[in-house]
Amino acid sequence: MILMNDFKAEPEELRLAQLSAVDRVLRSGWYVLGNEVKTFEAEWAQRCAMPYAIGVGNGMDAIEIGLRALGIGAGDEVITTPMTAFATVLAVLRAGAIPVLADINPETALLDPASVERCISAKTKAVLLVHLYGQIRDMESWTALCETHGIALLEDCAQAHLAQWNGKTAGSFGQFGAYSFYPTKNLGALGDAGALVCNDETIAQQAGILRNYGQSVRYYHTELGLNSRLDEIQAALLRVRLEKLPEFTQRRREIAQAYREKINNPHIQLLAAPLQETSHVYHLFVLLCPERERLANYLKANGVENYVHYPVPVHFQTPCKELRCDPNGLPAAEFHAANCLSIPCHPQMSDADIATVIAAINAFH
Ligand SMILES: Cc1ncc(COP(=O)(O)O)c(C=O)c1O
Repeated sequence: MILMNDFKAEPEELRLAQLSAVDRVLRSGWYVLGNEVKTFEAEWAQRCAMPYAIGVGNGMDAIEIGLRALGIGAGDEVITTPMTAFATVLAVLRAGAIPVLADINPETALLDPASVERCISAKTKAVLLVHLYGQIRDMESWTALCETHGIALLEDCAQAHLAQWNGKTAGSFGQFGAYSFYPTKNLGALGDAGALVCNDETIAQQAGILRNYGQSVRYYHTELGLNSRLDEIQAALLRVRLEKLPEFTQRRREIAQAYREKINNPHIQLLAAPLQETSHVYHLFVLLCPERERLANYLKANGVENYVHYPVPVHFQTPCKELRCDPNGLPAAEFHAANCLSIPCHPQMSDADIATVIAAINAFH
């Protein structure tokens, strides 16, 4: 089976480097928020060309902590997309704020600015973009839209490590960027991990306080914070895996390019190609098919694993049915959820694997 992710096939040299990083932490005798975390934070900030990175427990907490650090909470509306991991919207709710859902552009599955404009109210405090599947686009327009309305621009970068728009990295356009390092992400730990990147020292400090029970100085609490600390073993592993990230990202792009050039089945539609070479890091390669279930089963029967990201848009999830949405509805998100299928696109795929996936898809009728 060609898997969606194949960690067991990773290079032996990477396995050994990770073992040695774990050994270093064990020998240090310090396991939570120590030098490995500090060094990883500095390295990740540098990769994102940002002054501050704050390691936290996971990507969802990064969003919640970012919102709380900005003072966005009770009574405040945050406009975001229904076509995302549930964690995006759950984080807004956990910060005490009110998510409002705008529709997507059907060609990219990214938020549609016209729909976002229709959702803006007197209570709107922010737009939370999700760089879905690894795509970043049109950031000047988003910056301008948020400036015009006097609201914050926030970025959920959980799927977009190192994605760049006009040479600027995801997470650097607005008030904060929230990253997940869940194992399957382009940069993944071997457990849960996340980080917030930002330009503002006060927000960085506040995030550092919130992640650790709201403690400003040991045992002195200025906030009711979370326990969302990054541990030393995960930070040490992330440092090793970060070295591989550019090479792994390049391989994802090669696979995607082969798919774009060679998938030619008329029953299958691909999402829009990226506008810039570095503006897509292919966390996922997603196609659309009106007979999605039949295609999914056919591919599995032919040795190609596949998933759906995401089968249920957020406004159809039980706890979110009452959320305010675009007054014109969310038809593009609903269509996408019913038709999208993610096929394998990970750095351990061989050329033969890529050819097998393409041949299987082209033979589907
Ligand atoms: C777009 C998006 N946002 C947020 C998250 C949440 O990250 P985590 O699982 O690390 O909490 C994820 C991960 O699934 C995601 O894909």
